[in-house]
Parts: sequence; C-alpha cells; structure tokens
Amino acid sequence: MKITINQAGQYVGQEVTIGSWLLQKRGSGKIQFLQLRDGTGFMQGVVVKANDEDLFAAAKGLHQETSMYVTGTIKEDERSSFGYEMEVTGIEIIHSAEGYPITPKNHGPEFLMDHRHLWLRSRKQHAVMNIRNQIIKSTHDFFFNNGFKKIDPPILTSSSPEGTTELFHTKYFEEDAYLSQSGQLYAEAAAMAHGKVFTMGPTFRAEKSKTRRHLIEFWMIEPEMAFYEHEDSLKVQEDFVSYLVKEVLTHCRLDLEALGRDTTVLEKIEAPFPRITYTEAIELLKEKGYDDIEWGEDFGAPHETEIASHYEKPVFIVNYPKAIKSFYMEENPEDPRTVLCADLIAPEGYGEIIGGSERIHDYETLKARISETGLDLDAYEWYLDLRRYGSVPHSGFGLGLERTVAWLSGVQHVRETSPFPRLLNRLYP
Ligand code: 4AD
Ligand code: MG
Repeated sequence: MKITINQAGQYVGQEVTIGSWLLQKRGSGKIQFLQLRDGTGFMQGVVVKANDEDLFAAAKGLHQETSMYVTGTIKEDERSSFGYEMEVTGIEIIHSAEGYPITPKNHGPEFLMDHRHLWLRSRKQHAVMNIRNQIIKSTHDFFFNNGFKKIDPPILTSSSPEGTTELFHTKYFEEDAYLSQSGQLYAEAAAMAHGKVFTMGPTFRAEKSKTRRHLIEFWMIEPEMAFYEHEDSLKVQEDFVSYLVKEVLTHCRLDLEALGRDTTVLEKIEAPFPRITYTEAIELLKEKGYDDIEWGEDFGAPHETEIASHYEKPVFIVNYPKAIKSFYMEENPEDPRTVLCADLIAPEGYGEIIGGSERIHDYETLKARISETGLDLDAYEWYLDLRRYGSVPHSGFGLGLERTVAWLSGVQHVRETSPFPRLLNRLYP
C-alpha cells in the first residue's frame, strides 16, 4: 500500500510504502535513523542491523536527498513531534543523489539564495511555505464566507496607483505599459459592479530598497467595499488579520514548532486593534527622543518599530498627512491636512502589513487631486467614470502577503517568505 507521511496515523501496525527523500541520517554501528520527507510531512525510519544486514548496509550508504520508495511498518512514537515512525523493511532507490550542496552545516544567505530551488526542501523553508499556503487558503475562506467575490485585476496596466517613481516599464506593442503596482483601481471598478470584492495577485515595485521588508515582486490581497466608510474598513481589517492568526495557530502547529516561533505572542492577537493618529505617533516619537522626524514626514522602519513596541497587538496608525499618501485618499473632515487612511503595523518589528483608506468619491475632488499629483488625466478617464456614474463612498486596503508570512512565521527577512523572491540584486533562480 502506497501512502503519504501525513496519512501514517491511519496505518499504525501495517506495512506501507512511502515515496520519499532522505533529509538526513544518523546512527551507530547497530542502528540507522533515516529522516524521511515526502512533502506532506517528516518521519523517522529505523533500520536495525540485527534484523537485516543487507538493508542496514544499504541504509548506511544513502546520500542526502536520495529519492526512494521506503517500505516498513508504522509505529506510534511519542518522542517525535509528528507522532509516528517507520520500522523499515525495504528500500528501493529511485535516484541516488550525490554531493547535495545544502548540508546540515550553516550556509550564508547568498549561498542559500543561489540554491533557492533546493533550499525550499529544508525543514524550515518547508514550514514557511506551509504557513504561506495556510494564509492563502484562509484568506479565500474569510472573504468568501463574508460575501466577497474574487476579482482578478490585470498585471499589465496603463496607470499607476501608487506613484510613478517605482514603476516597471515595458512595451505593449507600440504602447507603454507598466507592471501592476496594485490592483486597487480595478478593484474599485469591480466593487461598483459587485459590492464587496477582493483580489490576490502579484504586484511589482521597482524600489531600490534593500531592507528585510522589501521585495521587488510581492503578492497583495486587496479588498474593496462599496458603501463602506473608513471605520467600517478598519473593522474588516482587524477581523481579517485576527482570523489569519487564529487559522495559522490552529493548522500550522508543527510548522511553528519547527521554526521555533514563540506562539504566546500570537495568541494575544484578537480584534479590536489599538489606534493611534499619525499626529499622536509623531508626539510619541518625540517623547522617546527621536529628533530625526517632523510632522509631515513619513515613518521609517525604526519609527514603526518604536510605535509598535508600545502594543501587544498590531496597531493602526490613522490619518497621515495628505502630502505623503496616494492621490485617491479621502480628506479627513476633522483635519483637512490629513486623509482617512490607516497603516496597520505588526508587532515585533515586522512593520507595515496593511495600507488602506477611504477613497475620494466626488468627481471634481478626485480630478483635481489627479492633476495636482502630476498624473496624466487621460490614463484615469476610466477611473473618473466611477465617479461620473453612481459614485458611492467606498473603502479598501491592501495586505502584503509576504510581510504577513514573515510576521506569523517569525522569520527575519521577507526573502524566506516567497518561493522564488525577486530582490534588488536577485533574479536567479
Ligand atoms: O501601502 P501600499 O503601497 O498600498 C497599496 O498599494 C494600496 N493600493 C492598497 C489598497 O488600498 N488597495 O501596499 C500595501 C501593502 C503594504 O502594507 C505592505 O504590506 C505590502 O503591501 N508591500 C510590500 N511588501 C513587500 N515588498 C514591498 N516592496 C512592498 N510594498 C508594499
Ligand atoms: Mg503603504
């Protein structure tokens, strides 16, 4: 019977065969422990010399990452976090690997990134991708269960929602085109057709930032809701993020354990989240001795980390100055220097995971803002149509998938949260 490792619990006491790779092995002159992996899980195979000398010799000669069919009897094993092991009775090698470059010793990040296509097989990288996968699944569950429809925005676009300096330019036959920075403008059009929508797709920023939070290509989840005001959107955001945390804690226990993630900090994440205004945040920073920032300037990573350190949950920084935010954000009626927006800052120094706002829904105001920003009005005619015909108040936000994965996994750098990260100096593999 051919099974997978995650099915082992149903076959205790039975002889089964598992297609697997050798992650590592250790042992003595009498017994060999084979760490097997098959994508669904990890399991130890035990080979005892006294039981079968030929099999023992074969096991001893196996190289790391050799692929094989391993046959044996499943046993319960309390010492293994997975709960089962296999008493091996047969090994059929499919392909013997030799000289696998990623050994159990420590390698530097550049070496590991050069071997990303192989590094993905390691226990920790496998765990991070499992967490990413859970977040993707739970995102769909959350929005579908709450009456949202998924809309796929284009990747090749003619306009730029988030400023013109970070655009990837390409030719679209005779025309100019850009890789999408955000699906938001298209999500707004879809919200006028469907009410509540969300997108999930790749976005691109030609940003010359080399930080542990920046990718050139990253995935964004962008909900957009008709008839939702700013405050309504904050509620969706805190419910959504709390749901993701709960789902990861429930379904990724072994992965969090493999990563050594401190889960007590995640267990405290529950809606509602605290809110602080941009102006209050500036005052807080001044009190803490940050002289390098004035009202009107954007926060850097150290500022965000300082602000977040005052809370155990993610914190919303609301009402940023209009001048440092995107053109489409609705003015704050209580202070016209600012807009109805929020950034959600994750705890533990993981930085901004969400940016969102209420959108300008008045035609003249939006048109004026597009012109003031120096954008080409022609490219936004279709977007202005949304304000010409049945415009309504609406709000939305964008959650960065990789930063959320980094936070929940507890990995320090976003390069480990994307299967094949595109970084400032990296397009290979
Ligand atoms: O704050 P941003 O730029 O917002 C938007 O693009 C809006 N159009 C979203 C919307 O309202 N629909 O990006 C949103 C999120 C950030 O909070 C961050 O989590 C992530 O996307 N992000 C990045 N992640 C990795 N690398 C980068 N270079 C990122 N830039 C933004
Ligand atoms: Mg932002």
